[in-house]
Order: sequence, then structure tokens, then C-alpha cells
Amino acid sequence: MRSPDSPLLEVAGLSKTFVSRGLFRASRPIVAVEDVSFTVDRGEAVALVGESGSGKSTVARILLRLERPDAGSILLDKEDILALEPRRASLSYRRRVQMVFQDPFGSLNSTHDVAHHLVRPLLRHRRAAKEDVYGRAIDLLRTVGLEPAEEFISRRPYELSGGQRQRVAIARALAVDPDLLIADEPTSMLDVSIRMDILTLLTRLKTERRLAMLLITHDLASARYLADRVLVLFRGRIVEGGPADELVESPAHPYTRALLASIADVGELGTEPQQVEGEVEKELPEAPDVGCPFAPRCSDAMDVCWEMDPSYRSLGPRRVRCHLYREKPEE
Ligand SMILES: Nc1ncnc2c1ncn2[C@@H]1O[C@H](COP(=O)(O)OP(=O)(O)O)[C@@H](O)[C@H]1O
Ligand SMILES: [Mg+2]
Repeated sequence: MRSPDSPLLEVAGLSKTFVSRGLFRASRPIVAVEDVSFTVDRGEAVALVGESGSGKSTVARILLRLERPDAGSILLDKEDILALEPRRASLSYRRRVQMVFQDPFGSLNSTHDVAHHLVRPLLRHRRAAKEDVYGRAIDLLRTVGLEPAEEFISRRPYELSGGQRQRVAIARALAVDPDLLIADEPTSMLDVSIRMDILTLLTRLKTERRLAMLLITHDLASARYLADRVLVLFRGRIVEGGPADELVESPAHPYTRALLASIADVGELGTEPQQVEGEVEKELPEAPDVGCPFAPRCSDAMDVCWEMDPSYRSLGPRRVRCHLYREKPEE
């Protein structure tokens, strides 16, 4: 059911813990995603930003229903996705939520030409009649800037550059006319020189098609370029969220500041951040049982940070989970 006044996607209280069975270590639970809530509107791009291991892909996998959360809800147009019977969900939901992956070389089948990659979803999801399907595929290639489309349509993946492959992957996602596009590190395996082109394409699609987008990236510069809002993930939880420009220009959470400081130039797309003081992969430093999980790495840590886990505070349109802002509790 369409409810134009509510956000397209409403995610609330998403949590997921994995129990790793290490060969040489005792198994211990890994909190991959903890109480993550956010919304995405039509025509809006939201970026999930964080270092490797912060839980970004787990959020994406849960949204794609490849992983089941331990807690939380996902509403698409007010419809409870997790409550849907799996088969029904796989038919309509899989069409409405499409994914673009990081690896443009792995995501296309090298034995098939470009036409195959577009014709298949068009027919399967009944987006075109048989006699029109070729024309629709050509249109899609034009939409993603692969011209002359008549030439590209018969190429095989190995005859395309990385950027061109990613354009085909985007065209394939668009073929089924999705409402939400999830892009997990869509430019990180591409040459720096063409990253901007792909981000520009995604920005155009967002505006022209009123497509909702969830951009997953470790790169704050890309996030700022494409996204209207940025959510910063640390150890599976959102530590700061707000309008992209504001968040990058005046980061509130010490972790956001550290992320920004670790990239040389925010204007430069795709700069790999230096690891922010040590390994992030949940290994060390161990998050304290009480207090703020960022405290061991925080240069602003106060006594209270070791004693109490901060809750969210509102700073205008921003939400920050940090004791530095304790005088301004959330309404
Ligand atoms: N299937 C899994 N089994 C065990 N641990 C997992 C699994 N998937 C992810 N994790 C762990 O969850 C954490 C978050 O992973 P992930 O969502 O892939 O992070 P990101 O995409 O931000 O790099 C990591 O510590 C990762 O090792
Ligand atoms: Mg990932």
C-alpha cells in the first residue's frame, strides 16, 4: 500500500550477533549490528559509513533478506518485511529492493553478453513483453550512459572496463524498476579517475527516478558527494547521523572526527582512510562491558565514558551518541 507521507524504508532497532567458531580460539559472540534505526525516503540517498568490520554489509544483507536479524523491524511502504511469508517476499520485495555490489568483475556472468544480463530480469519480473525486451534493454544502457548502446549490448563482460561493468550492473538493477537501490562500496574497486563518474550517475538516477538509495562506503568523501544524509557506524551501532554537508563540515562524534582526520582530503574521492588507532575488526581493544564502546580509542574520553554507555542526543537535525553532548538530552 502506498503511503506517500511516510518514508519508503523504515528500519528500527535492527540487531544481529554472530557466534564465530574459530579454529584456535574459543567461540565468542560478535555483535555485528546493534540497535540500528534509520529511514530512507523516495529520492533520498543515505550513506552508511564506517571502517571495515563496522557492520555495513550485515545491514545490507539483512535488508536483502539474506540474513535474519535477531531483533528489529523493516518496513517498506509500511509493510512489515520480516513478517512476510518468504515466498511472497521473494517475489515483490526482491524486485523493489535491488543491489549493486562492490566487485564489477564478479557480479556479471562472463559466459553471457550484456543483453542476457538485462533481458533476463526484464522478462522474469514481467517488466517488458518479449517483442519489446530488446528495445527496453537498449534504453537501459542509454540510461546508464553506455553509448552506443547497440554496440554495448552484444559485448561480453571481459570486453568491458570496470566502470562499464558497474554501469551494466546498475542497468540490471534498474531493469526491474526498483524503489530502493542498495550499493555496497560500488566504487571502491574502480580506478580513482572513474569513481566520480559512477557517483554522478547514481546521483542523476536518484533525482530523475526519485530512487531511494542506501550507499554503503568506508569513504566519507563519496558519502558526502552522493548522500543527503550520512550515518556513521562504529562497532555495529550508529554513533552519529545527520545531513551530509553538516556532518562532514562539523563532525560531532570523536569517531567521526577521527574518520575525517584519517583521510587526507575530504574532497578527494576514494581516499583509503588510515585505520583509526589500531585494528577495528572487533579484536582490539576489546570494547568495555560498561561505558562507551569507543572510549578505549577516544581522545576526549571522560570518567563517565568508562562508566555509562551514552544514549542518543539531538543536536538540531543531528543525532549523536556521545557523552560530550550530555547537556542536551533528546526530547
Ligand atoms: N556470517 C558471519 N559469521 C560470523 N561473523 C560475521 C559474519 N558476517 C559478518 N561477521 C562479522 O560481523 C562484523 C561486521 O561485518 P560486516 O557487516 O561485513 O562489516 P563491514 O561491511 O562494515 O566491513 C565483522 O566483525 C564480521 O567479522
Ligand atoms: Mg562490507
